[in-house]
Amino acid sequence: LNLAVLISGSGSNLQCIIDRVASGALHADIRLVVSNRPEAFGLERARKAGIPTVVLPHGNYLDREDFDRALIAAIRDHGADAVAMAGFMRMVTPMFLQTFPGRVLNIHPALLPSFPGTHGQRDAAEYGVRIAGCSVHFVDEGMDSGPIIIQAAVPAFPTDNGETLGARILTMEHRIYPQALQWLSEGRLSAQGRKVFVAPAAR
Ligand code: GRF
Repeated sequence: LNLAVLISGSGSNLQCIIDRVASGALHADIRLVVSNRPEAFGLERARKAGIPTVVLPHGNYLDREDFDRALIAAIRDHGADAVAMAGFMRMVTPMFLQTFPGRVLNIHPALLPSFPGTHGQRDAAEYGVRIAGCSVHFVDEGMDSGPIIIQAAVPAFPTDNGETLGARILTMEHRIYPQALQWLSEGRLSAQGRKVFVAPAAR
């Protein structure tokens, strides 16, 4: 799996993917890390791991299509053919998705379809849910709306806020994202409509 990881922030999910590749648990080659924000700490994590980085400040581009053309070029230039969004706070265009059909994944810190958007943890905490969690899904044209690959649940308490619940969710994010990527790497994922099937492991 020749992977490009897209980030905008701390990159703890990126770090987890880096560590799983290094340990041999995830059979992938992280060819590139792209951030739309120059100050994203995840860029530092990539550099420490010797992974090429590209910064594409979205303000430098006329529109989403223009940004995505630069993003596609960077991904292709580095030989990646699958994309993992990990805290990437941008919507991609249909053009981008058509370039990597069935190869663009995202992690969302809520049990989709509940609490899509940029504050899933806080929204769940404020709603007073008792079970929260995270989802890895194929990216489609919508926001956090593509077919779900894997989810994990965590308990939520009345005393939780976005930060306390978010920290508990993040621990599970770091477990399910590498799992989803390993299934992708093994070619075991297939989506039929909204349903995602994970084929049995090869003997
Ligand atoms: C994670 O909570 C992820 O679910 C959300 O943004 C956060 C990214 O965290 N999309 P990190 O940058 O991977 O640490």
